[in-house]
Amino acid sequence: MINGGRPLISLEGVTKVYKTKAGPLEAIKGVDFQVGEGEFVAIVGPSGSGKSTLINMITGIDRPTSGEVFVAGERLTNMSENKVAKWRGRNVGVVFQFFQLLPTLTVLENVIMPMNYTGTYKGKRRQRAMEMLDLVKLTDVVDKYPSQISGGQQQRAAIARALVNNPSVLVGDEPTGNLDAESAARVFQLFGTLVQHGTTIVMVTHDRDLAGQIPRVVEVRDGQLVSESEVDHRLVAR
Ligand SMILES: Nc1ncnc2c1ncn2[C@@H]1O[C@H](COP(=O)(O)OP(=O)(O)O)[C@@H](O)[C@H]1O
Ligand SMILES: [Mg+2]
Repeated sequence: MINGGRPLISLEGVTKVYKTKAGPLEAIKGVDFQVGEGEFVAIVGPSGSGKSTLINMITGIDRPTSGEVFVAGERLTNMSENKVAKWRGRNVGVVFQFFQLLPTLTVLENVIMPMNYTGTYKGKRRQRAMEMLDLVKLTDVVDKYPSQISGGQQQRAAIARALVNNPSVLVGDEPTGNLDAESAARVFQLFGTLVQHGTTIVMVTHDRDLAGQIPRVVEVRDGQLVSESEVDHRLVAR
């Protein structure tokens, strides 16, 4: 049992209030959300509903105003920012809409980079990175720079980078949002393969076709989770 019997991810009574010039903005309004090990979950909902804020709680990129977050046996809400950053590097892979590869590093160097912070034996880093690049089918562009490859290839490189430390959770914030349909389908297919191999994935998506293929769809509306039986299926292709 991990987390004292909790599932892999557990958000308990989470709220998030941003301070803005116009006053406090309640982005998340008391969310309870659990994800079991090995689940593949899509998060859908209108723009501005709180999807990114919600998943930033799971990665520890942001922390709640109140409530508790547990991921893979850790209580994130009592860890220092430094400790959370270290923890994230080892345990969570994050993929964003705009890839965020470092432009001055080659594809291979980008994928090696997260291992520089986790003490992976130096002699193993290149080999491990190449394994991930093989998984995402990019071995032919490892020495190119991000600007020299397509958006779909950049996103696959970002996924290889997210996976290189063998995280227990992969979190995507609209990872296919900036891709053409064919590249999106490829990335999605890769996620399916990862889930088959035991990775837990939580992915925000606007793409109805993709969401419709994911076993569990959670909808965020105005900072709250809509009960799963009430998910608006117009948002989700069936
Ligand atoms: N850093 C921030 N400071 C102030 N308000 C924010 C911040 N991040 C998000 N918000 C606000 O919180 C709400 C939810 O945003 P977000 O989680 O990005 O929604 P989504 O990802 O569903 O589009 C929005 O009203 C947004 O403007
Ligand atoms: Mg967002």
